[in-house]
Amino acid sequence: MHRSSARRAIALVSLFAAAGPLFAAPADQVRTRISGFRELGASFKTVNDSLRTAEPQTFLIQIAARQIVGSSREMAGWFPAGSGTESGAKTKAKAEIWSQAAKFKAAQAAFAKQALALQAAAQSGLAPAIRAETAKLGKTCKGCHDTFRAPGD
Ligand code: HEC
Repeated sequence: MHRSSARRAIALVSLFAAAGPLFAAPADQVRTRISGFRELGASFKTVNDSLRTAEPQTFLIQIAARQIVGSSREMAGWFPAGSGTESGAKTKAKAEIWSQAAKFKAAQAAFAKQALALQAAAQSGLAPAIRAETAKLGKTCKGCHDTFRAPGD
């Protein structure tokens, strides 16, 4: 191989090496987002399941509420630009997340605020208060899903 074409080959290889992670990124971002939501879903289920029992386990609910607050803080990083369906990744994140960014941020903020209210109720240990705040939290999940998550399985 001629020296300059060898150099070109090396340049091309390093170009692909550099571009590789860039192209892979949206799929990874979607994976991170979906596993984050699955964790959040599991924590929320823990709260609801516990509330359905005769003697709700305040301790379990407090742990789950703390995890929900944690998710609400991480969520801001789950929607980087370019991680929608246009990336080719399998995702239910609708384009409105980015085209109506202020409205989406408001939905995230409403959820984060309510997550703190649930945590405060969990600290109080009073089942009726926990129940009320849990129901309100569920409405903030649904409010966002109705507008910003594509329907389907
Ligand atoms: C600010 C918007 C928003 C809020 C608030 C929100 N979600 Fe979601 N959720 C989404 C979007 C968007 C998706 C789709 C993500 C994707 O497919 O990339 C999703 C997906 C999910 C998924 C599906 C994950 C999978 O397996 O594909 C679950 C479960 C979930 N959310 C649970 C919840 C629960 C429970 C709450 C409230 C405690 C909540 N979400 C609050 C926007 C939100």
